[in-house]
Amino acid sequence: MMPTVAPFGKTTDGTEVQLFTLINQRGAQAAISNYAGTLVRLLMPDRAGRLGDIVLGFDDVSGYQSPAFRESTPYIGALIGRYGNRIARGRFIIDGKAYQVGVNNGPNSLHGGPVGFDQRIWQAVPGTSAAGPTLTLQYRSSDGEQGYPGNLDVTVVYTLADDNALKIDYTASTDQATPLNLTHHAYFNLNAGLSQNILAHELMLPAERYTVVDTTQIPTGELRPVAGTPFDFLEPHAIGGRIGQVPGGYDHNWVLNSPIGQHPAAIVHDPASGRALAVTTDQPGVQLYTGNFLDGSLKGKGDIVYGQHAGFCLETQHFPDSPNQPRFPDTILRPGQIFHSCTSYHFSVRP
Ligand code: GLA
Repeated sequence: MMPTVAPFGKTTDGTEVQLFTLINQRGAQAAISNYAGTLVRLLMPDRAGRLGDIVLGFDDVSGYQSPAFRESTPYIGALIGRYGNRIARGRFIIDGKAYQVGVNNGPNSLHGGPVGFDQRIWQAVPGTSAAGPTLTLQYRSSDGEQGYPGNLDVTVVYTLADDNALKIDYTASTDQATPLNLTHHAYFNLNAGLSQNILAHELMLPAERYTVVDTTQIPTGELRPVAGTPFDFLEPHAIGGRIGQVPGGYDHNWVLNSPIGQHPAAIVHDPASGRALAVTTDQPGVQLYTGNFLDGSLKGKGDIVYGQHAGFCLETQHFPDSPNQPRFPDTILRPGQIFHSCTSYHFSVRP
């Protein structure tokens, strides 16, 4: 079925934006705005077949531009770029030339700088495919935007597959060498908001190591074994089980065990609703962020107040600060190369 389109309000600068609703053969729904490519709503069945909205979000675009949102920059539901996660001091060198990009997180640049892809309006084209309904989003990030080199053309295709997978395909090309790390910042609560937080969700991460970070969340370069630490999710554990031992909560990048091809990045299960989520990706890392900075100052859809740990994010990605870490997998996209990456969020239920 072709996606439908409805108004999603006006941005602060007066631009009307839209909300596209994708419905698959099983009746699952994904609603996505051309503002930031935001995943606003995701309806998936629980074990009794009841649809519930399992992502955090707001009723219209004003929720994503409110002063409280801009102050806390939670990136709820947004596409993230050019460089997801942090670049130390916003500085890097490519082919001997030094660049300075916008700093917005203590001394560092986070998620593309002060005005990243999470605040841009994308060209949106609804469509259909053999797998299910699609939304194609395009954005040109101009040479020098936020300090990044090169005109970068980005295409993101969302597909709501009939097997209840939300698939995100990213494609990009550039006319100058640039760092690139595209990801998605959905906050999931598989209990559809019935529980105020995700601490009872059980998580498995197929990662024997994680990237150790300094006090400003920049990797030291060390890939540390998770064994014997609260970062060990090789066997499923409740997210809240050991979170108290991690100052501030989880906000770390795990090094996935099998980085070749499309590989598992995480499995999450909510025992209350029966919903399960399996994430696969072709990226080498995944950032688990447990909504540590949500503090009740944002009220989302259905008047639900988003307190700490109201949702969790699994941001598939290259490692933070890769442009300054020669031993990390390379994140520089060069002219003539076509970047392509795919992350899939597949939903099912358990008895
Ligand atoms: C990422 C970062 C966090 C935080 C959230 C949004 O997960 O690593 O530190 O910025 O985004 O608030």
